[in-house]
Amino acid sequence: MTAADSGSAMPEPITVPPFAVIPGAQVRRALQGREKQMVELVEATYRLHGAGDSVNPPSYFLRFPDRPSSRIIALPASIGGQVRVDGLKWISSFPGNVAAGVPRASAVLILNDHDTGYPFACLESSIISATRTAASAALAADWLSRGRERPARVGFFGVGLIARYIHTFLAGTGWSFDEIGVHDLSAGHAAGFRSYLEQSGTAGRITVHDRAEQLIRSSDLVVFATIAGQPHVTNLTWFTRDALVLHVSLRDLAPEILLASVNFVDDIDHCLKASTSPHLAEQLTGNRDFLSGTLDDVMAGRVTVPAGRPVVFSPFGLGVLDLAVGKYVYDEVARSGELQVIDGFFHELRRYG
Ligand SMILES: NC(=O)c1ccc[n+]([C@@H]2O[C@H](COP(=O)([O-])OP(=O)(O)OC[C@H]3O[C@@H](n4cnc5c(N)ncnc54)[C@H](O)[C@@H]3O)[C@@H](O)[C@H]2O)c1
Repeated sequence: MTAADSGSAMPEPITVPPFAVIPGAQVRRALQGREKQMVELVEATYRLHGAGDSVNPPSYFLRFPDRPSSRIIALPASIGGQVRVDGLKWISSFPGNVAAGVPRASAVLILNDHDTGYPFACLESSIISATRTAASAALAADWLSRGRERPARVGFFGVGLIARYIHTFLAGTGWSFDEIGVHDLSAGHAAGFRSYLEQSGTAGRITVHDRAEQLIRSSDLVVFATIAGQPHVTNLTWFTRDALVLHVSLRDLAPEILLASVNFVDDIDHCLKASTSPHLAEQLTGNRDFLSGTLDDVMAGRVTVPAGRPVVFSPFGLGVLDLAVGKYVYDEVARSGELQVIDGFFHELRRYG
């Protein structure tokens, strides 16, 4: 009996896509100066995720008994919509690198073909990861400050690579500040960030604060990008009444501060894990009532942002964002005709030889 006899259609012929490697220089070229576009892409991806057109299982944390401060995280994900790609980000955090002047985080992103499952690209992904993180922070700053006075004094608490990207994304999406505060445990890191700010051409007055309290008291928008493992900011009175807090490093704020604030996350189940401050707040209260919702809830108009209390955004960081930005990079590099394909990467392509 043929397929036609049985009434079923012949299967579509499928082809295995070529496998490409995209190094950091190409990634950077594809993303440079595209801050607005990346914020729009992240917004669209949050909306897709909110609508359920994604698969984003929990991140897996690989930890090492002999290197307790280091970790490698796997973020598998699948995204629908027009992006339609599956994949995995594999990102290491080795804080000891920083003393030697080497970035803490390094990463690759694997993109898998929707139809065959075959991996079709391996991309340098520390830039993609920093880009999606900063784009998400800029998006949150925009949406969570709508309808209130736009912050004019920003404070960066912990100033490594992520803080630099967040500043670039805020500036690249139209934010300007009268005052830019900087605080870091390391005077050298604070000085490095200051010189980055000066070179960026910002018009704001830059102040390095030795004390955390000074930074927070003099900021309407506070960006946390430290590598703290446990809360170290415990005093709610340091924050201005309507402070907007981008809690990107997730573990800086005592749970009591969250309980007295308005809280938004990117994804509730993801964020209430791994001893983040929202996770500690849930453990302290035994419930999730302190959460007002997700950023997607705000964007969709399901939740409004109340005034009169600090607003804290704690984004766990979703693999779907890496996929969306990574696929954008792949398409750009392919369009430019500069895709570096590894011929014959997959060798066993006939089942019986
Ligand atoms: N939520 C997300 O989606 C997401 C994504 C990427 C990175 N991150 C987080 O962002 C953070 C920053 O990443 P990075 O690559 O810029 O790290 P980094 O190591 O380059 O910089 C961190 C900086 O924070 C400073 N610091 C550490 N503890 C501090 C403290 N208690 N007070 C003040 N300063 C302190 C360090 O001296 C350093 O300069 C990390 O915690 C990382 O996990 C979050």
